[in-house]
Amino acid sequence: MFKTIVCKNYDEVSLEAFKVMKGVLDTEVNPILGLATGSTPVGLYKNMIKDHEETGRSYKDILTFNLDEYVGLPRDHEQTYWTFMHENLFNYLDCPDCNIHVPSGVGDDPEKNAREYEEELAKHTVSIQVLGIGSDGHIAFNEPGTPFDSVTHVAELTEQTISDNARFFEGDKSQVPTKAVTMGLASIMRAKKIILIATGANKADAVYGMLKGKKTIDCPASILQDHADVTVIMDEAAASKL
Ligand code: PGA
Repeated sequence: MFKTIVCKNYDEVSLEAFKVMKGVLDTEVNPILGLATGSTPVGLYKNMIKDHEETGRSYKDILTFNLDEYVGLPRDHEQTYWTFMHENLFNYLDCPDCNIHVPSGVGDDPEKNAREYEEELAKHTVSIQVLGIGSDGHIAFNEPGTPFDSVTHVAELTEQTISDNARFFEGDKSQVPTKAVTMGLASIMRAKKIILIATGANKADAVYGMLKGKKTIDCPASILQDHADVTVIMDEAAASKL
């Protein structure tokens, strides 16, 4: 079931997302956080850091599971999601690295990395999963056509996603990895609660497809129609086709 919140600007979106996150942090003992990369959740993470600094809330015993990671970049490469999460969140909290889970994209057997990640993830129930949405309706790297029953796997990035992400690689599409290890749609659906954040007019079609379209693998985010607790927080541009 969807709850939708439309905000005036990115700061408001980030604050609303933080309110939902705070609700979980305040009420659950050591909640398990499902986290996402991308530009969209950065404002939420800034609010989490501010809250940690102001209230002393501790993340020492909190486990985190990230959605995905590129295949083929060393873990400390400036564009890995491991690095992104440290630079935008983990370095500012008191969470030890041993509690942080990001899929591994290194080594010569990414399928094995994916299986091992799913095994670890399956031992837990994510309390709250943060999601962005791709302009093609993807969530994590579950591109259109990904089966709804998919678990953590190695995914090929589409041309659209490679173009969208080239901005992080000096605008050079040839530098964007072509594969990623990603939680599958069924893995994501196991989370107790989901917040999906979407901003900008380029997300408007995907947001429409997710909320109002037919449930179809052509819009992977439409699987969320079957989830019991999804809050979609968006700006007016992303909500403009509703
Ligand atoms: P973005 O990416 O937050 O950088 O727009 C979202 C996504 O592709 O899931």
